[in-house]
Amino acid sequence: MTDALLVETRTADTAAWWRQAAVYQIYPRSFADANGDGLGDIPGILSRVDYLEKLGIDAVWLSPFYPSALADGGYDVADYRDVDPRLGTLEDFDAMVAVLHARGIRVVVDIVPNHTSDLHEWFQEALAAGRGSAARERFIFREGKGENGELPPTDWVSVFGGSAWERVEDGQWYFHNFAVEQPDLNWDNPEVREDFLTTLRFWSDRGVDGFRIDVAHMLTKDLSEPLPSRAELDAIPRDGNHPLIDRDDVHEIYAEWRRVFDEYDPPRTAVAEAWVSTPERRAKYASAEGLGQAFNFDLLVADFDAEEFRTIIADNLAQSDTTGSSTTWVLSNHDVTRHATRYGLPALNGRHVKQGTEWVAAGGPDEGIDREQGLRRAHAATLLLLGLPGSTYLYQGEELGLQEVAEITPEERQDPTFFRGGEFDGLGRDGCRVPLPWTASGPSFGFGAVEAHLPQPAWFAAFAADVEAADPSSTLSLYREALRLRRVLQADESLQWIETGRADVLRFARPNGWQVVTNFGTEPFDLGADATDVVLGAVDGGAVPGESTVWIAPAGLIG
Ligand code: GLC
Repeated sequence: MTDALLVETRTADTAAWWRQAAVYQIYPRSFADANGDGLGDIPGILSRVDYLEKLGIDAVWLSPFYPSALADGGYDVADYRDVDPRLGTLEDFDAMVAVLHARGIRVVVDIVPNHTSDLHEWFQEALAAGRGSAARERFIFREGKGENGELPPTDWVSVFGGSAWERVEDGQWYFHNFAVEQPDLNWDNPEVREDFLTTLRFWSDRGVDGFRIDVAHMLTKDLSEPLPSRAELDAIPRDGNHPLIDRDDVHEIYAEWRRVFDEYDPPRTAVAEAWVSTPERRAKYASAEGLGQAFNFDLLVADFDAEEFRTIIADNLAQSDTTGSSTTWVLSNHDVTRHATRYGLPALNGRHVKQGTEWVAAGGPDEGIDREQGLRRAHAATLLLLGLPGSTYLYQGEELGLQEVAEITPEERQDPTFFRGGEFDGLGRDGCRVPLPWTASGPSFGFGAVEAHLPQPAWFAAFAADVEAADPSSTLSLYREALRLRRVLQADESLQWIETGRADVLRFARPNGWQVVTNFGTEPFDLGADATDVVLGAVDGGAVPGESTVWIAPAGLIG
C-alpha cells in the first residue's frame, strides 16, 4: 500500500474505526509539560504529536484532564466540562483535537460518572444545603447509627481502604466507593442522568471520537433499608442484583448514552472499564445497544503462559462473536504494575503475576526482579497482542519498555491507595505514573523545564525516547515497526490456531495468511521454510528463540 493510500484509510470516517484500533493511553499529567510547572499538560501533548504519529497509533485515550484537586490522580473531577487550568484551556484542547485529527489520530476521553470530586459545585452545594435538601439527593447521604448517629450507616469498606462512609459537619454521612474526596453520585436522580448527557454532548460537539467509562459497573445501587452488613454484602453474588456492583439496571443508563452517541456521524464510541465476574457479564457492557466495547483485562492478570493465553484469547473471541463487538487487549494501564516489570517478578506459587488482592501491588523492592526477562517477555506478549483480532490499548511508556519505578519515597507518593491500603495494597500506583523520559539529559529528562511532579530515577536516561529513536534495536523501534506493519497486514477479525506440537508455543493465522508465533518457553522453535517469510521479530538459525514472538507474512502480503 502506498503512503498516500495508508493516510486515506486512516482518516476515513468509517463508523467501525474502533474495532481494530491501536489506542494509546495518555496520562496527561505525566506525559509532557509545556508550561514548566512540573505537571504534564495539553500543550505538552500537542508538542509531541510528531512522536504519536510516528508511533503509528490510531487513537489516543486521555485520562482525566479536568479541574481536579488530584486526590485520585484526576479521577476526582471538579468540573466535567472544563480543562484543569494547570493543564491548559478549552481552546488548547480544541487545538489538540484538530491537530491530532489532521494526523489521522482519533481522540477518546475519560468520563468518570460514579463519583465527583468533593470540590465539585454540586457537592459543595450539598454540604451547604443540609439534610433533606434536593442538593443532597444528588449524592448518597444517610443518617449514622449509634445513639447520636456517630457510627457509619454500615461497616462497608471503600475500594481504597477504610470506611466507605464519611461524616459531614451536620452529622450526616455520605457514601464513597473510592477516596473520601470522591463522593458517589446518586444515579436514581434524573438530574444526575441528564447532566451526564450534557457532558457527553459537550465533548462530542468538540470533536471527541469516543469515551472511556470509568468504573462503568458501579453507577447504580440498591440502598433500600435494611442495608446488609459487609459480610452479607460480600456473600451476595455479582450476577445483576448485587446492591453495589454490576447491577443489571446500569444498562438503562448506557442505552440512553448510546442514543446520544448515535446522534453523531460517525457515532461516538465508548469502552467500559468494568471489572465484572465473567466474560458474559462483561458482554452486556459491550453490546451495540450499550457502550459498544468493554475492556478485557484477562491477559493483564494472566501469567506469561501459553495455555493461559490461548484459553483467554479463544474465550474472548467467542464472546465478541456473540455480542458483535470487538474485543480489547490490554497489558498495562495507569492502575497496574508495568508489564515489563510484572513478567520479571519472581514466581510466587509458581506464578509470576500475583493474584487476588495482591496482583496490582506496584513496583516493589528490586530484589528478585529479572528485568531483562521481564522486558523480553513483554516484547513477546505485546507482539502477540498486536497480531490478534480486536483493538489493543497501549499505555504511555510501554513503547519505551519502561519498568515500574519503585524508588519513590513515602513523602513523594501521591496515590491514595498507598496511604489507605485497601484493594491496592503495597506501593500503590505511582510507580507506573512517573513522567516520561523524552531526552537522556536535561531537566526532568525532557519532560519539562523543571523537576517532574513524581521523581524520575537516573536509570530513566537509558529509556529516553531520543535514545531509543536512534537505536533500531530499541523497544520504541520495535513498537513503531509493529504498529506500521499491523496496518499493512490487518485482516478480518478472526484467527485460526495452527498446532505446533509444543505446549509452550502458540501459533495462529489471520484470514489473509498473516501469522503470529509466540514461544513462551526457553527452547528454540524451528520454523522450517517459513523462516524466510518472517517480517517482524528475530529468528535465530531458522528458529524462534525462547520468550519471543515473530510475525510471518507470505510474499505479496506486504506490497
Ligand atoms: C478507575 C481508574 C482508577 C481510579 C478509579 C476511581 O479504576 O482507572 O485510576 O482510581 O477508577 O475513579
